[in-house]
Amino acid sequence: MTDQSIQSVLNENRVFAPPAPSEVGTDRWLISSLDHYNELYTKSIEQPEQFWGEIAEEFHWFKKWDSVLEWNAPDAKWFSGGQTNVCYNCVDKQVEDGFGDQPAIVWEGEPVDDSGNPVDQRRLTYKELQTEVSKLANVLKSHGIGKGDIVTIYMGMVPELAIAMLACARIGAPHSVIFGGFSAQAIADRVTDASSKMIITCDGSWRRGKVVPLKDNVDEAIKLMEDSGSQPVEHVLCFGRCHNDIKWGALDRCWHESMDNASDDCPCEPMESEDMLFLLYTSGSTGKPKGIVHTTAGYMLHTAMTSKYTFNLIPDQNQVFWCTADCGWITGHSYIVYGILPNRVPTLMFEGGPDYPTASRFWQIVDRHQVTQFYTAPTAIRAFMKWGDEHPESCDLSSLQVLGTVGEPINPEAWMWYRDKIGRGVCPIVDTYWQTETGGHVITPLPGATPTKPGSCTLPMLGIDAAVTDELGNEAKENEGGLMAIRKPWPSMLRGVYGDRQRFIDTYWSTVSKDGKPYYAAGDGARRDEMGNFWIMGRTDDVINVSGHRLGTMEVESALVAHESVVEAAVVGMPHEIKGTGIAAFVTPAPGFEGNDELMQSLREHVAKDIGAIAKPDMIRFTAALPKTRSGKIMRRLLRSIAAGDTEITQDITTLEDLSVVANLAQKDE
Ligand code: WT7
Repeated sequence: MTDQSIQSVLNENRVFAPPAPSEVGTDRWLISSLDHYNELYTKSIEQPEQFWGEIAEEFHWFKKWDSVLEWNAPDAKWFSGGQTNVCYNCVDKQVEDGFGDQPAIVWEGEPVDDSGNPVDQRRLTYKELQTEVSKLANVLKSHGIGKGDIVTIYMGMVPELAIAMLACARIGAPHSVIFGGFSAQAIADRVTDASSKMIITCDGSWRRGKVVPLKDNVDEAIKLMEDSGSQPVEHVLCFGRCHNDIKWGALDRCWHESMDNASDDCPCEPMESEDMLFLLYTSGSTGKPKGIVHTTAGYMLHTAMTSKYTFNLIPDQNQVFWCTADCGWITGHSYIVYGILPNRVPTLMFEGGPDYPTASRFWQIVDRHQVTQFYTAPTAIRAFMKWGDEHPESCDLSSLQVLGTVGEPINPEAWMWYRDKIGRGVCPIVDTYWQTETGGHVITPLPGATPTKPGSCTLPMLGIDAAVTDELGNEAKENEGGLMAIRKPWPSMLRGVYGDRQRFIDTYWSTVSKDGKPYYAAGDGARRDEMGNFWIMGRTDDVINVSGHRLGTMEVESALVAHESVVEAAVVGMPHEIKGTGIAAFVTPAPGFEGNDELMQSLREHVAKDIGAIAKPDMIRFTAALPKTRSGKIMRRLLRSIAAGDTEITQDITTLEDLSVVANLAQKDE
């Protein structure tokens, strides 16, 4: 064992009790002890209708619900008969309640001046947000967008991105946000699948001092759709962020001109509880990303409730909540916009990267805005560790109360560093486990209640009946590995895969317990320890988690084989110091192509163009043949161990390896 892995085992066994509120500078913990949590948890599982009904009472409804839950597996209807609007509860309610002048969104753009101060900063109050959202909602209507029309949003992290999401919610038009790092092809695929009539974009977005040409990518996507014979987009609305030179075409509309002429009077559309709020595409084990469907009332309640308790959000206490994710991912949907705004604590949005212009940027933001809750990915924490302690040490981080992580397992060293260097050795760390499909947190510590262990996401969230089971739904024994399952419906669960009912059933609902009840299968391996804590052990399907972003190995494979030089490709995850999991590709070149550095480079660029930079393989190995079983299946487990460096290959023919030789040795184990 290396020193580091010994340290890791030692750290895993340490238990940290929640601090007293005064130790972190808050006046109370909303859930203040393990007993308190247990009491609420028991109620949430045994009397879900009462538990959720009481939470729902705190929200605005145009019409009260008839029933809290109708469960006809795998279809859940929460708050049937009720009518509400998510935008109303995020924005208008605060204005109505007399808090219109309080900050709703605090924003910082990426560029800095010569003394390192940000050039662009904005604060939007609830009232200002209401005005902007209402105007944009009217602009959307004027372009023929109404209830049920899916609007695609492809923007950088400017407040207008949140405004666009809320404007859609206001008029009942579901949105589909596409992460700004995705390519034209990825946009085209998603827009086509959703038959989206409208795209909202920006001229560009700042990322590490460079402009990401968002509008150009949209133009290229439209061209791709036109070439393929199905192009549903009628309008492209473009917000000018960075004076990037763009071409104006027949479909294009200027955000600023349209907004200047728009009225700020646009009442919220009453929506049925189960109307679609948004679609969000995520990777699965096939080559094609799936559109995860989330609906109105249940999603709103679960994200607001989890935001409140996981992060201890309390209004009127000068809290500032900062989640560093991009709104293009579920984390940004739930914990930048929809879950935070109803809690009346300002949400901070930042446009740029963590190390621009220096590796102190994030900590300067915490200092400048006196951030109280900070929520980021383990990948970022590992990068900060590498960049050096002098960066956090140069800033005042004493405002921080709660630290969160999300997206991938956190290694105990990174957890300890986060607690010591960022959290002054006192801030509780909430390692939140959840998924695009779950909508909000499903396993997480509560900062004032749950004893934490580095590397464990600890206990189920209120309302979540989580278990580790075998394929037949039998609960695993203590410390025995199994599958992560959820046995009862919860309000923010996905309601479907857009346009693919069968995929919804097959992917998530094929586990049925002995008593005939279908369980939700998350696709992760897990175990529970002697304290009942959950430990996530990684995906059980062909999905890999790169820097906290989910990617299907098949997606990367299809991108690779689409290149003329590739006959066959297999993609697996490999351990990566910063990213957690890196991407390893094994490629068989076509006759006439040589597997050299140049080809490697052009394949990496090709994948970036086809999917996005996040999908670029970290390692490409050329092989004359891929190792296969006698029945012709690629031996992925063997490839994973080769990629991890565990299996030595002796038959190296200069650049072209013959992995089929290793396959013969490994045949027995697969
Ligand atoms: C997958 C979901 C949840 C929002 C961001 C990612 C992994 C997520 C944790 C965690 C260990 C985690 C799982 C999950 N994951 N959070 N705290 N510990 N693993 O959402 O893109 O839908 O990915 O991320 O493998 O299934 P996503």
